[in-house]
Amino acid sequence: MPYYPPEPFRIKMIEPIQLIDKESREKALQRAGYNVFGLKAEEIYIDLLTDSGTGAMSQDQWSAIMKGDESYSGARSYHRLAEVMQKIFGFRFFVPTHQGRAAENILCAVLLKEGQQVPSNMHFDTTEGNIRARGGKPVNLVIDEAFDPDSLHPFKGNMDIGKLTRFIEETGAENIPFGMITITNNAGGGQPVSMENIQQVSETYKNHGIPFFIDACRYAENAYFIQQREPGYHDKTVLEIANQIFSLADGATMSAKKDAIVNIGGFLALNDPELIIDVKNELILREGFPTYGGLAGRDLDAMAVGLMEGLDADYLSYRIGQTAYLAEGLREVGAAIIQPPGGHAVYMNASKILPHIPQNEFPGWALAVEMYREGGIRCVELGTVAFGYQDPQTGECIYPKLELVRLALPRRVYTQSHLDYLIEVVSRIIHRRDQIQGYQFTYAPELLRHFTAKFKPVKEK
Ligand code: F0G
Repeated sequence: MPYYPPEPFRIKMIEPIQLIDKESREKALQRAGYNVFGLKAEEIYIDLLTDSGTGAMSQDQWSAIMKGDESYSGARSYHRLAEVMQKIFGFRFFVPTHQGRAAENILCAVLLKEGQQVPSNMHFDTTEGNIRARGGKPVNLVIDEAFDPDSLHPFKGNMDIGKLTRFIEETGAENIPFGMITITNNAGGGQPVSMENIQQVSETYKNHGIPFFIDACRYAENAYFIQQREPGYHDKTVLEIANQIFSLADGATMSAKKDAIVNIGGFLALNDPELIIDVKNELILREGFPTYGGLAGRDLDAMAVGLMEGLDADYLSYRIGQTAYLAEGLREVGAAIIQPPGGHAVYMNASKILPHIPQNEFPGWALAVEMYREGGIRCVELGTVAFGYQDPQTGECIYPKLELVRLALPRRVYTQSHLDYLIEVVSRIIHRRDQIQGYQFTYAPELLRHFTAKFKPVKEK
């Protein structure tokens, strides 16, 4: 049996969940056009669609909410958050935003001009979207190991410094308004980036006069991986490691819905005194006054408390241990997964689990549908439906390298028995895998297909 770290909390408020019967699940699937995004929350037993905004807040966060100061400007809540921001991130300025993509939008609005390019290890899709929406081009320069599901590289989120240097030389620093890195690398399986690599990325950007911004959504999980895996960091606290990470950058965007364990919130932080003026003006136009940025005062207080809780050593070892437990359990029942497991999620390798379903019949999608059909579990396909597209010139379908299904773990929400149930469901699916068939579109939008596409089984009965 893999080791399950006992939860460093006990439960004092519960939210009922229910496994509806098989027939009702089948009906729900048909109504939703075999798209789990179309299901109602009450039709789901265990929801692993995302770890974003789905965490459970603590008693201290709920108490802080009651102290929220809703003054339009200069609220106490803002100053309490500012104090925590200083302690962890240490940037000279910050503005709250309603979530991560709002911070990305403002950063692109103030820095990016049409035709410019923005490198990262891998951009998350909202970052990519915000760069493209301003006429820019996102560029992903992660190390090759990131695409090898069996590579046990401890920092598979690292940027390839050779590729980055060549990219800057070929593109010209004047065409790169800022550079980024995502910690942990969500689009690449929630894999961490090493301190050594962040240092090298920082130096490379600095040598070319390119401002360096960190996508910090899961920075605490990344800092914990550094503490556990990188020589020289074992005796440092996660907070000290976080301090060191952010001292290497010129700014950061963050969706607080991840490692700050709140249901809504984010920020944009930076050091440049000129830039913050443009940022504040853009914020006022789109989000709100700079001391609340589109959030209620109480949200700022919940974020201030959550940011510190997200760095707690007991919490992090439980959190990362829970993900590792799920990964090990899945491997034991014969499910192929991306190795090593990341921080916030386990990714199943659908082409290996359902080898008889060809890519054009969406094996990842079929597995995600089956997770719901078999066990009322919701997870998300990250394969051909999400990332495949038609080549505009040839009309040919371009397939992604991997057909994945992401099981994202909300923070402090599910227990060991929920995970054991999930592992059992996967085991049952594997036993009858030959009967599982692929899907085809009945409707597909051009972009971000997975959210709204509709499907039917390839051989409809
Ligand atoms: N950056 C990363 C690395 C993310 O994972 C996300 C969101 C964002 C930015 C955008 O933040 O949702 O607050 O606007 N990821 C979620 C997920 C949606 O399910 O992985 P947001």
